[in-house]
Amino acid sequence: MMLNKNVLQKLGTAIVLLLLVACASKSKNARIVEDFNKSWNFKLGDYPTAIQSNFNTADWRTLQLPHDWSIEGAFSDKYPTKPSQGALPAGKGWYRKTFTVPVDWATKTVSIEFDGVFKNSEVWINGHLLGKRPNGYISFAYELSPYLNFGKENVIAVKVDNDAQPNSRWYTGSGIYRNVRLVASDKLHVAQWGTYVTTPEVSNEKASVHLEVTIENKAGAEKEFQLVTSILDANNKEVANVTSIEKIGANTNAKKIHNLKVNQPKLWDTEHPNLYKMVTTIYENSKAVDNYETPLGFRFFHFDSEKGFSLNGVPTKILGVCLHHDNGALGAVENIHALKRKLTILKEMGTNAIRMSHNPPSLEMMQLCDEMGFIVQDEAFDVWKKKKVANDYHKDWDEWHKKDLEDFIKRDRNHPSVMMWSIGNEIREQFDSTGIAITKELAQIVKSLDTTRPVTSALTENIVEKNFIYQSGALDLLGFNYKHEDYKDFPTRFKGQKIIASESVSALETRGHYDFPSDVIKVWPPKYNAPFDGNKDFTVSAYDQVKSYWGATHEDNWKTIKKLDFMAGTFIWTGFDYLGEPDPYPYPARSSYFGIIDLAGFPKDVYYMYQSEWTTKPVLHIFPHWNWTEGQEVDVWAYYNNADEVELFLNGKSLGTKAKEKDDLHISWRVKFEPGTIKAISRKNGKVVLEKEIHTAGKASKISLNADKTIIKNDTYDLVYVTVSISDTEGNLVPNANDLIHFEVSGGGKLVGVDNGYQANLDSFKMNSCKVYNGKCIAIIQSNGKKEKIQLKAKTGNGISSATVDVKVE
Ligand code: GAL
Repeated sequence: MMLNKNVLQKLGTAIVLLLLVACASKSKNARIVEDFNKSWNFKLGDYPTAIQSNFNTADWRTLQLPHDWSIEGAFSDKYPTKPSQGALPAGKGWYRKTFTVPVDWATKTVSIEFDGVFKNSEVWINGHLLGKRPNGYISFAYELSPYLNFGKENVIAVKVDNDAQPNSRWYTGSGIYRNVRLVASDKLHVAQWGTYVTTPEVSNEKASVHLEVTIENKAGAEKEFQLVTSILDANNKEVANVTSIEKIGANTNAKKIHNLKVNQPKLWDTEHPNLYKMVTTIYENSKAVDNYETPLGFRFFHFDSEKGFSLNGVPTKILGVCLHHDNGALGAVENIHALKRKLTILKEMGTNAIRMSHNPPSLEMMQLCDEMGFIVQDEAFDVWKKKKVANDYHKDWDEWHKKDLEDFIKRDRNHPSVMMWSIGNEIREQFDSTGIAITKELAQIVKSLDTTRPVTSALTENIVEKNFIYQSGALDLLGFNYKHEDYKDFPTRFKGQKIIASESVSALETRGHYDFPSDVIKVWPPKYNAPFDGNKDFTVSAYDQVKSYWGATHEDNWKTIKKLDFMAGTFIWTGFDYLGEPDPYPYPARSSYFGIIDLAGFPKDVYYMYQSEWTTKPVLHIFPHWNWTEGQEVDVWAYYNNADEVELFLNGKSLGTKAKEKDDLHISWRVKFEPGTIKAISRKNGKVVLEKEIHTAGKASKISLNADKTIIKNDTYDLVYVTVSISDTEGNLVPNANDLIHFEVSGGGKLVGVDNGYQANLDSFKMNSCKVYNGKCIAIIQSNGKKEKIQLKAKTGNGISSATVDVKVE
């Protein structure tokens, strides 16, 4: 066959495009992204002249970000932050970093990306002010290129001002507490958060993918380029690609569209979080000049006013928890390993969803929710124009809310885990007509950037006439906090509306502490400003018997939710205890009691109630411990599933067989204590499913150390959490041990935090010792960069034998 010139030319172009596509997944390094966390100088206080390059930082500390100076302080009730914010100091602080950039970066666009700085950050490069960002949870970037000395030294200075207090209802931390990166890209590049990927059609057979990508040309000349989009599966195998030839004018932005199809996509769900990624590559004259990765998952979901929520067509109850952003003893310091541990503990419990209360989370949190299979309610604000505390975000509302909301959506809208956008928590404007206009405005901002998820808000007012956020008509999904007794009326009260319990429970517990009798429900505090007289030692019983007056016990809430098909699900307040909001107690209580898991990461007993209901794995959990006074009446509770009955034995003698009736979530026995062994056996059809026994512990005799990993990376970030417990000679946990443990770490690690989960413990998390609380504490070790085996040694001064644990470093 004769080929004319035209055909040959077309063929040539096609071959070039094919070659480009073949290279697409390999050309990874066109964009340079550097970890910019190391070697910063820091000093508490205010140093306006530190913006100058020749400023002397000889007396400043050198540290690695992320960093939170509040967590390094001593607890006190004298700070302007107050115990509701963790009773830790805030104030002002400065960071500085000296760095050089290669000469050949002069042709590039160089930016600095901050994932979050609490708060009011101002950033200077070589004395030039780059900008200010009041919101402490938002991610932002500045272009540095116009002010850089290429091949020479540069100085970046960051002022953080967390001085005006109180500015939050919980612990915020202070400083550059999330990651910082330096990004060098070609002048022709994908803009920051420049991709928006949607999947208009998804089925097991095929999926369609729609990409809108904003290309930025910072060069002074028009550019012609090839735009290649490639979709890679979890094994980095390309499953789809598309290429187009594009043009962009000098110093401008342009939106480009690509449509792709994927055959037999592996769908993302909470059990099988199958992920893909999209790689966008820009080629100029056949050379890859920029590449940009976007997470991608194939799933479809639906909220229904009658049937609740479904994921990929499967009816699915949202079994969620609310989380604040702190990482316990690490404070606000963000660390992917700390997050992964938290989410792993929650996954084991059966949790399938997280509500990011009440602010934009970190990038790592979003990444892990995608990877581990959590449905996300992503939340922007805790206040709008009307304040909750004197110096909170209401002060920045007028100037910043639009930009903050837009940036929040742009950053997170490609994460398959995100299925709801919450524009606010318990917003004051729900109670007056100003709520109407603001709700409409915010919903419109969200919709202008993403129409694939419902806009919701966590409301407290469930009387239609009194709730102006609802009356705006701008919400796609109604979130209600608490008042579970009213839920049954919602289908008539909010006819045709889709509904989720955006926040529930707020019950209170201290791990390992038990008050008798266990069947008396206490409301602590009894009501707003009512006198309240709790336990002298600031503890709360770990039987699910204490709730706040606005809340419910865990069991009451779950019994209600599980029966209401229209209710999409529930988010329990909270998954983990968090710093601040120590209701119902005053100082010295300084962290919350609401968690299903304590601040150190130890599950409280009610964790197993959820596990028995939210998972299908066999569960049998009995409590309390078995060290009481002879003759004392002790209530023994059992959470169980996958069985018809449970039989309890005391020292071999049966105390009877019981089974949950109707909608019971636990069974219990009242037992006259005698030392020895309490044992439970669960059976199904007469066959043993599980056995659990607890022995009366003798004198404290040894320390046991249990590291959650045997090997960590020597990257100065990786963490190992070591559980420290005190046991008797037989290895039984001594349930009331409170011995002081001293730690020594040698080799490739350093101690970065200790905690025992006790809400009123005033010892710093940064000491190299910790008192065990109810037998346990945790030591957190971080890689220090040396490739040497880590050894943690733990000892007491009181005759209990010491212990060591080794962790390899790779
Ligand atoms: C809710 C609020 C949460 C937390 C919780 C404590 O009303 O949304 O942020 O304060 O109460 O029970």
